[in-house]
Amino acid sequence: MTQNLTDTHAAVRSTQAFESGVVPRRGDTVMVRGEGCWMIDSEGKRYLDMTSSQGVAMLGYGHPVLTAAIQEQAGRMHACPNFFHNDTRAEFLSRLISVTPEHLTRAFLGNSGAEAIEGAIKFARLATGRTGIVAARNSFHGRTVGALSITWNPRYRRKFEPLMPGVSHVHFNNIDQLEEAVGDGTAAVVLEVIQAEGGVHEGSADYLASVQQLCHERGALLVIDEVQTGFGRTGRWFGFQHFDLEPDIVALAKGLGGGFPMGAVVYTEQIQESLFSGAHGSTFGGNPLACAAGTAALGVYEDGLIEQADKAGRRLREALEAAIGVRRVVREIRGKGLLIGIDLRTKAVPFLKTLMEEHNVLALPAGSTVLRLLPPLTISDGEIDMAVEAIAATLPEGS
Ligand SMILES: Cc1ncc(COP(=O)(O)O)c(C=O)c1O
Repeated sequence: MTQNLTDTHAAVRSTQAFESGVVPRRGDTVMVRGEGCWMIDSEGKRYLDMTSSQGVAMLGYGHPVLTAAIQEQAGRMHACPNFFHNDTRAEFLSRLISVTPEHLTRAFLGNSGAEAIEGAIKFARLATGRTGIVAARNSFHGRTVGALSITWNPRYRRKFEPLMPGVSHVHFNNIDQLEEAVGDGTAAVVLEVIQAEGGVHEGSADYLASVQQLCHERGALLVIDEVQTGFGRTGRWFGFQHFDLEPDIVALAKGLGGGFPMGAVVYTEQIQESLFSGAHGSTFGGNPLACAAGTAALGVYEDGLIEQADKAGRRLREALEAAIGVRRVVREIRGKGLLIGIDLRTKAVPFLKTLMEEHNVLALPAGSTVLRLLPPLTISDGEIDMAVEAIAATLPEGS
């Protein structure tokens, strides 16, 4: 048995070696199981997951409602092409549209965040007859060529240039720069209301309201990327609801299927009118297994999880402020709900390593100096306290 396990680990690690040139890995740990907010490795070590597997496992691992829905659908029908109607897909679509603001009546289903952004770019081009996109510095929208073109980080972009033409990047929260950048060739302004990967930077209410107004005045669409901030992550269904925005297009993924891979673009009836048959499509998008997972996840969100996440976010934020807020190493604690960035006066990665290796707590970086927390929305008070205690023990004391 032990021999087999060792062989399996060696095989797992050698498979990972093929991928490791692309995605940096955290040591040799082999994760094999999840339970609630915990990930468990092949040696039985348990880690408190303050990342939700990059923000997707919003219900934690093994949630009974999600698991049962996936199992039931897997036994009934796991694939069905989009040229047939499908009951599970129809149920999911009507549920999704019922939780988005009233003016967003249409949805396209894909498989990831980047794919949702690709859809948003194409729809904005068709609806406006224009090709320009204005995005923000520090933004992250994914790594397919279209999504990468509007992602800001030069490290991700440089080796793939030339990318999609017609894209400009302006400073986030600077309306003067946006006024200069948006013209009669601009199809859309694409923004995250809280830039997550870019360092957990929040848009100001004044700025976001002015962006929307400018888009209306100049005939550009407002596209909000809610891939990371959607489905209760910030304590509301969608991050833009903190700012009373009415985006024309919203890109969704991560929490949409409770961690099951899926993405979506939701948009207005007016945009639908500009689409032609075959304008966009996806073989896997809207597959019944993902849709069953999505319906189950939306049901759990609706059943009080978003309010619970709002409370949990406040508790986590207050506990962090009390434990480490005055320490010299901490420049600022920011974010909303259960998307929190601890901006340090030094690099974040060494602390992430200590948190994992010495305290069994998983967290993420955002930019170079920000330690980012995005736990499952199901996190308990006790787990919040454990995470805060571990972070306090990891960061240097001294004010
Ligand atoms: C705001 C935002 N948009 C888009 C993406 C890309 O999503 P995916 O990795 O599913 O393609 C991400 C991923 O982290 C994201 O945070």
